[in-house]
Amino acid sequence: MSVKPLLNAFRDYLSLRDEPVIREWLDGFDWNLSERNLVPKTYSACGFLTAAQEHAGRAEAALLSRLIDCSGQVQWQQMYTAEDFGQSFLDNYTHMELIGPEGHFMSDEIAAGLVIYGPGLDYPDHWHIAEEIYIPLTSDGLWSADGAPLAARKAGSFIFHESNMRHAIRAGGAPLVALWVWCNGDLRQKADY
Ligand SMILES: [Fe+2]
Repeated sequence: MSVKPLLNAFRDYLSLRDEPVIREWLDGFDWNLSERNLVPKTYSACGFLTAAQEHAGRAEAALLSRLIDCSGQVQWQQMYTAEDFGQSFLDNYTHMELIGPEGHFMSDEIAAGLVIYGPGLDYPDHWHIAEEIYIPLTSDGLWSADGAPLAARKAGSFIFHESNMRHAIRAGGAPLVALWVWCNGDLRQKADY
């Protein structure tokens, strides 16, 4: 089944953002993308989506709702194994590539999607070549970039990581759901840490 409604909500949400990096990456982007017929896959962290809803920002709620609607058709993924950050990390994390070289909608220009972090999940410093935008759809998460202390960032906050800038994330008492976009680098890279 198609996850086109999720792509449409993703496009609509980003079209309202006026940050120069978002406009630079997406103005002129051709959203008429070919959809792959990916086999759905879920991980335990998908179970946090419903509880995340009450923590969503006002402008972010519609995108989160479409994600919940489409979650059963999504091929959720994990970039890591238990050898990386332990089994508890895997039990509390999953991400999906909506757009990208391996995503539901094919693109070699950007990779983009959504990620779920369960309550209390600690994602230590990691980095990758691609530049990255994160926008949390829910509040209650703590974020760090370039070695700065973890700081609370509300739903709708704009977070940007330069190429190979280390960054860390910690979910608060609520599940954290965030939008991510990669550009200008190896879009298939596994993050280093
Ligand atoms: Fe990252």
